[in-house]
Amino acid sequence: MKPTIAILEERISAAMVAAVGRDDCAAIVRPSTDPKFGDYQANGVMALAKKVKTNPRKLAEEVVKNLDLDDICEPPEVAGPGFINLRLKPEFLADRLLEINKTSANLGIDKAAVPKTIVVDFSSPNIAKQMHVGHLRSTIIGDCICRILKFLGHNVIRQNHIGDWGTQFGMLCALFRDKTTAEDIEEFKKIEDEWLSDDEILKDIEAFYREAKQKYDSDEDFAADARDAIAGLQKGQEYWKKYWQAIVGVSESHYMEIYRNLGVTLRDKDIRGESAYNDDLPVVVDELKEAGLAKESDGAICVFPEGFKNKEGDPLPFIICKSDGAYLYATTDLAALRYRVNELKANAIIYVTDARQKLHFEMLFAVAKMAKWVSDDIELSHVMFGSVLGEDGTPLKTRSGENVKLKELLDEAVERAKSVVEEKNPNFSEDKKKQIAKAVGVGAVKYADYSNNRTSDYVFSFDKMLAMDGNTAPYMQYAYARIKSIERKAQTKDVDIEDELAGLQTLNLTEPAELDLAKYLIRYGEAIQAAIADYRPNYLTAYLYELAQKFSAFYTNCPVLKAEPGKRPTRLLLCDLTAKTIKHGLSELLGIEVVEQM
Ligand code: ARG
Repeated sequence: MKPTIAILEERISAAMVAAVGRDDCAAIVRPSTDPKFGDYQANGVMALAKKVKTNPRKLAEEVVKNLDLDDICEPPEVAGPGFINLRLKPEFLADRLLEINKTSANLGIDKAAVPKTIVVDFSSPNIAKQMHVGHLRSTIIGDCICRILKFLGHNVIRQNHIGDWGTQFGMLCALFRDKTTAEDIEEFKKIEDEWLSDDEILKDIEAFYREAKQKYDSDEDFAADARDAIAGLQKGQEYWKKYWQAIVGVSESHYMEIYRNLGVTLRDKDIRGESAYNDDLPVVVDELKEAGLAKESDGAICVFPEGFKNKEGDPLPFIICKSDGAYLYATTDLAALRYRVNELKANAIIYVTDARQKLHFEMLFAVAKMAKWVSDDIELSHVMFGSVLGEDGTPLKTRSGENVKLKELLDEAVERAKSVVEEKNPNFSEDKKKQIAKAVGVGAVKYADYSNNRTSDYVFSFDKMLAMDGNTAPYMQYAYARIKSIERKAQTKDVDIEDELAGLQTLNLTEPAELDLAKYLIRYGEAIQAAIADYRPNYLTAYLYELAQKFSAFYTNCPVLKAEPGKRPTRLLLCDLTAKTIKHGLSELLGIEVVEQM
């Protein structure tokens, strides 16, 4: 169904053309910020008046004369210097709600007219290190972006660009070999998944990493082995590769478990780590040299994209090969970008990482454009985010000063949610309590992240995110469960609400709180568009929160179960569409579970 704003803009643009005989100005319709000014406001007339050099207010009046919105709005009003204020008619609202009711799977929201192939690079943790809370943001923000794009009909390709290559693998492989036998490895491979979770040697992969590092720094023979391993890996020697594969496999299984817990849509097939580009790195460097873009500077090979300067005002290098011949993060990213454009046929590539990588991506995009590896119609975006802080305002750490591990964080959230559930619903079965605690605990961590403006840092607080009121997951989950409980009560032996609502042909919207909720319900599509336009999930959480509040106001003012017969179906439909919208927003787009009872 066509978005309300689009219909209004079309009609108003036509009236603007009729008024002045030219069509070079947009109608620019926006939701009004204050209900005094109606529901929507058209702001385009002022710019048009400037162009045709006439009084904007007079022109607005002229436009209104040419405007036919009878089927949608009350008579439009001209306000201020030339705004046109629009107030939706209850009949129009009723039609929209009935239409949404008919297409409830997508809540009346159309797919994109031109579906694109969009690569989303997110999560991308580093092997042999546990995922920590810093990776949380990339993982869940990226996931939300993928979910929205997919819902809008785009072809989404997830890329988990894991750090699975680099000199540290020399020492890791050497230590792994010392601790195990080649037969073990073969044995491991046969039982795939089991060994991944059961293997004792690599169970604590971070401790393993520390041990390797310590040995590398103190034991000359071991350091020589590690260098051997690196050389072997670089040449693709089977002997070292099997150790590397085992280490990578164990790490991947850690991530996969966390993704599953988080309800994140990343699978094995989405992993394409740095190692995948190993063979392309010399090609990248050669091509940039041949194109005359890469030069030697202090022994390293660098590209100097225009406009990038250091503090002293000297050109800033994008280093693609060090003097010892080693390739870098930048080189791999160039290779990955080429792969995504040439092989995956991306129309857009979105990178989700923290703000500290801002310069890296600006330079990466600039170099790729200089090399003509991306054409202008391919959109490159760096979706960056701030840090997660502890209550003291410094980056979140454990009491002993270590990075907080994602798994422990989620476990604690679920644990705390369990006591909330225990307190509120002591009579639920143990299974049910567990299920709710998981939805609430994991949901709270995710929702708290989403609801913050992604570019700001935010303070991680279990108390705040698990609060039952305010813009939190438990509040939203409870709002949903409450509507479901109303519906259960409305359901009697003789009336099946599903059937009752499915057959609805007319609505009876009269009360201010009903109209207010109805007007907000039809704006779900706008919220999704706003969220995806700038990749900001907080626009979506803000919408859902306000929807829940409008529902509350409606429910306080308008009885549903005790409504007079002529009002009951309308009110039940408002309940049902609110529940469906909250459920869709939370579970389909944000990947946060809802529960039917809470
Ligand atoms: N592994 C990197 C890190 O943990 C993030 C990779 C992001 N993606 C990319 N194509 N550079 O910082």
